[in-house]
Amino acid sequence: MRAAVLHEHNAPLIIEELELLPLAADEIRVEVTASGVCHSDVMVASGGVPFPLPLILGHEGAGRVLEVGAGVVDLRPGDHVVAAFTPVCGRCFFCVRGQTNLCTFGQELGMVPKGVLADGREVAALTNLGTFADVLTAHRSSLVKVETDLPDEQLALLGCGVTTGVGAALNTANVTAGSTVVVIGCGGVGLSVIQGARIAGAARIFAVDPVEMKRKSALDFGATDVIDPTTEDVIDVVKTATRGLGADFTFEVVGRAETLVQAFDAARPGGDVVLVGFAPVGAQVSLPILQMMVEEKSVRGSNFGSAQFLRDLPRLIALVEGGRLDVDSMISRRIRLDEVNDAFRAMDAGEVIRSVIV
Ligand code: APR
Ligand code: ZN
Ligand code: ZN
Repeated sequence: MRAAVLHEHNAPLIIEELELLPLAADEIRVEVTASGVCHSDVMVASGGVPFPLPLILGHEGAGRVLEVGAGVVDLRPGDHVVAAFTPVCGRCFFCVRGQTNLCTFGQELGMVPKGVLADGREVAALTNLGTFADVLTAHRSSLVKVETDLPDEQLALLGCGVTTGVGAALNTANVTAGSTVVVIGCGGVGLSVIQGARIAGAARIFAVDPVEMKRKSALDFGATDVIDPTTEDVIDVVKTATRGLGADFTFEVVGRAETLVQAFDAARPGGDVVLVGFAPVGAQVSLPILQMMVEEKSVRGSNFGSAQFLRDLPRLIALVEGGRLDVDSMISRRIRLDEVNDAFRAMDAGEVIRSVIV
């Protein structure tokens, strides 16, 4: 196999040939046809979350089954699959309570080696997937079979970013028709929150981002108002538009303490503050306890859009097929595997919404 491997934090990924390991009974080999480049990959590459290295990156992808392990009965070669950023084992504490996005099976699996480097060292993969490769080896619980004619480059984005954003609006927050929404951070995930809020029928959607291209995209995806946080006071603008109250739902989609505080301040009494951004390990935030209590503001984390992936993936596909969810316009660049380092740079520079390796 060929894969993009992280050997050292803050150093370019190295594209190299790896020897495949024998397929275990519950594993599936997949030809990766498309893989999205997500901010979380950039975060892991920078050491924000310390995984043991070397590591194959990439955690949102689509492809075709090449080969199944002896114990796999419900997938066969040729099947069209989407890789899920968290597995769904169906048996753990969370899966049986309908919270499959919190499935703990991935932790039980640990870091399973996916290939062998030229020097003999074994390499594991991010979220046990490693979609920055031409072939990936996944546990059965990490793959979902799909039957759709949507292009794989769009399906790939449903494996993490789009599901995380749309799910934050539809599942975690339950955005209601006619409500006022603020989305802070308009990358691939934030723009998906905006689309989710639009699908839910929000009356007003404020999109906050310092990058002009992102604000322009936000309007295309359904935002009604944009705010540049470098020249405007976000709280002032939201309060003025809501007769001093604040918004019904606010979303932090950057992964920083300051923007979480901003999301808290922009919410109305009784409003919901949803934290979607992925902050580095150990990051802390300080919020006013009295206001939280007196004004009944709730702050809630949203992991993988609170998605029940086996239920939500077909729903999202139906929304795309029906023209109600636009994933195609989120793909700014189609690149080759060996251009992944430039895709990281382009993401940090705010040049792209999503790059997809095809
Ligand atoms: N206020 C508002 N937006 C900001 C600010 C700020 N102070 N600082 C940066 N941003 C914007 C960036 O300009 C960018 O458009 O936040 C956006 C982040 O988007 P991406 O880097 O494309 O990241 P994305 O893939 O959308 O993920 C966003 O959600 O799931 C998590 O791990 C993910 O933490 C990441 C976040
Ligand atoms: Zn992701
Ligand atoms: Zn589980």
